[in-house]
Amino acid sequence: MNKMLTEQDFIFKNNSEDMPEKGSFTWKTPSNIALVKYWGKRDPQLPENPSISFTLDACFTMTTLEFNKSSLVQDDKEINFDVFFEDEKKDDFKPKIQRFFQRIKQYVPFITDYDFVIRSRNSFPHSSGIASSASGMSALALCIMSLEKELSENMTETFFHKKSSFLARLGSGSASRSIDGELVVWGNHNDIQGSNDLYGIKFPSIIHDNFKNYHDTILLVDKGEKQVSSTVGHDLMHGHPFAEKRFEQAHQNLSELNEILQNGDLKKFINIVESEALTLHAMMLTSNPYFILMKPNTLSIINKIWEFRAQTNSNICFTLDAGANVHVLYPESEKKLVNNFIVSELIKYCQNNHYICDRVGLGAKQFE
Ligand code: DP6
Repeated sequence: MNKMLTEQDFIFKNNSEDMPEKGSFTWKTPSNIALVKYWGKRDPQLPENPSISFTLDACFTMTTLEFNKSSLVQDDKEINFDVFFEDEKKDDFKPKIQRFFQRIKQYVPFITDYDFVIRSRNSFPHSSGIASSASGMSALALCIMSLEKELSENMTETFFHKKSSFLARLGSGSASRSIDGELVVWGNHNDIQGSNDLYGIKFPSIIHDNFKNYHDTILLVDKGEKQVSSTVGHDLMHGHPFAEKRFEQAHQNLSELNEILQNGDLKKFINIVESEALTLHAMMLTSNPYFILMKPNTLSIINKIWEFRAQTNSNICFTLDAGANVHVLYPESEKKLVNNFIVSELIKYCQNNHYICDRVGLGAKQFE
C-alpha cells in the first residue's frame, strides 16, 4: 500500500517518557545520480518538478550518531553537537547541520533533549567533486529516525522509510532519493502512483532487466570546489526565462522514462538521460548571472562517447550533475566492451586519471 502521507503525519506525537539516556546508531547511505534532474525549488525545500535517480552503491557515507541526554533543559535552544569528518573535528560543517536540525525540529522535537556527536566518512574522496550532501544528509536523517523508533512502538518499516526521506529532503533535496534503491522518484507526477513533493518513493513499477545492475563509472574531471553551489543554482531558477518550460519538460521526460524503465528501450533511455543532463547545464548557461560548470574535458568525453556509440552501436551514455564530472552509464551486458573503452579512451581526461566504478545499489543499510 502506498498511502500518501502529509506533513501532519510526520509530526512526532508520543510524549517521550522512556527516553534512552545514551547510545548510538550507524547508517551507511548511498549517493544517487538523477536521470531526470531536480533543478529549482521553493520553500520549504519542495521541488519545482519531479525527478528520478539511480541509487548508487560504491559511493556512500557512513555516519554514526552518538546521543546523550542533555543536562540543559531549554525550550528553544539550538541543538548541541560536535561533528567529526574522517576523525577530524569539523566546525565548518556545523552551520549547515544546525540549519538542518532547526528545520526538522518540529517533526522530531525530542532532538532538543540530547547532545550529539556525529562521526562521518565518505567512501569517495572529499574533494572529488562528488556531492556528499545526498548521502550525508540521508545518513543523518536515518540515524535520527532510529532514535525516533526507540521512542515509538509499532513504527512500520514503510513509515520509517518515508519519514527518513522526508527529513533528509529538508537537509538537501536530492538526499530524499538516497534512502531506498534502486530507482527513486521524488516530486509529484501524475503517472507515478504515490509520488509526491514531500519525500522520495521507490519506483513503483517492475523495472526491465535491461536496467538491472546498471553501471555508472564516474569520471573525475575536476575535483575542485564548485564555483557555484547547487543552492545558488536552484535559486537562479526563480525568474529564469525558461523555467516554466523546463519544469513542464521534466514532467514529460519522466512520463516517457516511466514507460522506458518498464519496457527496456535503451535507445530512448539514452535520448532522455543525455537531454536531461544537457538541459540542466543549459539552465546554468542561461540564468542571470550565467555560469558554466562543465570543463573542456567534460565536452571531450561527451564527444568521445558519441563517437564510440556511432561506431559500435553500444548503449553507453552520459549524465552530469552540477559539476564537471561525467557519469558514464551502461548496461551490465556491455560491461566489458565499455570498460575497455573507458580505460583506453576516457581516463586520460580525468584529473590524475581518477575515476570511480559504481553501479545501481539497493539503498541505505543500518550497522550495529
Ligand atoms: C543537479 O540536492 O544538492 O544534482 O536541495 O539545495 O541541497 P539542495 O540541492 P541538491 O541539488 C541537486 C541538483 C542536481 C540534480 C539532482 O540530483 O536531481
